[in-house]
Amino acid sequence: MWRPPERIRWKPDAGRWPTAEEAASSRLFSPITAGPLQLASRTWVPAMVPWRATEDGIVTPEVLAWYERFARGRPAALVVEATGIRDVPSGPLLRIGHDRFIPGLAELVKRVRAASSGETRLLIQLIDFLAVRRRPEPETFFRRYLKITDRHREALGVATDDEAREKLLTLDGAALDEVLDVREMEALRMGYRERVTDTHLPHIRDLPKVLPDLFGRAARRAEIAGFDGVELHFAHAYTMASFLSALNDRSDGFGGSRAERVWLPLQAYGVVRSMVSSRVAVGCRFLAEDCIAGGNTVEDAGYYAKRFAAAGMDFLSLSRGGKFEDAKQPAIGEAAYPYTGPSGYECMPQFISDARGPFGRNLGPAAQIRSAVRASGRTTPIVVSGGIHGFAQAEAVLTDEQADIVGFARQALADPDWFRKVRLGRGDEIRICEYTNYCEALDQKHAQVTCKLWDRQSLDEPGVLKSKDGKRRLVAPNWEP
Ligand SMILES: Cc1cc2nc3c(=O)[nH]c(=O)nc-3n(C[C@H](O)[C@H](O)[C@H](O)COP(=O)(O)O)c2cc1C
Ligand code: SF4
Repeated sequence: MWRPPERIRWKPDAGRWPTAEEAASSRLFSPITAGPLQLASRTWVPAMVPWRATEDGIVTPEVLAWYERFARGRPAALVVEATGIRDVPSGPLLRIGHDRFIPGLAELVKRVRAASSGETRLLIQLIDFLAVRRRPEPETFFRRYLKITDRHREALGVATDDEAREKLLTLDGAALDEVLDVREMEALRMGYRERVTDTHLPHIRDLPKVLPDLFGRAARRAEIAGFDGVELHFAHAYTMASFLSALNDRSDGFGGSRAERVWLPLQAYGVVRSMVSSRVAVGCRFLAEDCIAGGNTVEDAGYYAKRFAAAGMDFLSLSRGGKFEDAKQPAIGEAAYPYTGPSGYECMPQFISDARGPFGRNLGPAAQIRSAVRASGRTTPIVVSGGIHGFAQAEAVLTDEQADIVGFARQALADPDWFRKVRLGRGDEIRICEYTNYCEALDQKHAQVTCKLWDRQSLDEPGVLKSKDGKRRLVAPNWEP
């Protein structure tokens, strides 16, 4: 993972924990409504993919255990990981692109309800993504993948495709730069990656025709499965965030100006809304800043927030960065990963940081976006996350009006009982996240995600669920007051 060059080591400091009485009278543990969602407190566990579904995207006992464990800590809201809206193979990522996925998801809802005694509201994040191929062996790339055109033959001074392929194999990087265009060089160095601007490809050109319905049908299935809400994934490196990005220069009315870039996400929202009942909350997660050259700024995000709020979204959850554009070059045979460059750092900041540090990097932009929404006359709740682990820190986010709901992702993974422990006045028993990103490294390998603070503890406990290699426990040890 990329880290800021300053390499300043930060240690999380949760500060003083409140007594049970102080927690009870805090803003953090005061209720809030987000459309039809009645949240008992302003605590939220954002989506985290644990790579525990089957290769066919079906809920497994390991998926159930993951969410059940979070629910036992009783956050007010828990968002199920990015879940694919298409019926296409996507590895061990959950899917909701067909009715056959509903029974597994319904079981997940049931387990979360039971584990939290009905307190935790459950949402599911709906995602669409484009193709990303592995970085090829140069030989395979030149012999098999590269489409030879007149441009290549001319530049290489050869007559046939075979001659062009053979000659390309002998060239070094600088010489290749002269012959291949930017996208071809990228396909060679990083692996081929589709973009929303590849409108010469019919399936990319037609995204605006197919996506609203795919999102709508997925949301409908989420309602049938019993979810309280859906979070449309408009963040990070995925399709909808790419439509929103300032880098989207499509000329078909879905790219260019902000108003055009937001058009498809708004259409998708409209179809989702029309396909679920008023019982279901609908909101989205998007980027307060893209954190890449030429990407969206906080001003773009403020504009989008106002449009989403005006359209009637029930909540807006803000993330930051996490883009492909600045991702690290993958090893041959591996795919590029959007959380490996500076924008990835902004998304999941690690303890080795710069002078700003890893805690609360998204708060300033969130406050600006929230102000823009409030100035437009909307009260839509804003959810923020990023390095939040202490009670005083979370409370300040609310009292300073930077956001309305506080997201705890890695801190909830490190200790799913954070919420219960704080409420009971037992904050000093909390396992504080060290922000090492061990969990994130597992995510990157698409390995079952766990936390290094607990995954080797009490492995001989009867009935403990273990990783495929048997070396790690898959859920945090039990805690009872
Ligand atoms: C293992 C892992 C998986 C994640 N998966 C998702 C995801 O599916 N969707 C999403 O929007 N964010 C995802 N994130 C980002 C988190 O939701 C969150 O924005 C980020 O970790 C920063 O918040 P934190 O500092 O509280 O962890 C993931 C993070 C981790 C560590
Ligand atoms: S592995 Fe655990 S301690 Fe480390 S960053 Fe992830 S959640 Fe925090």
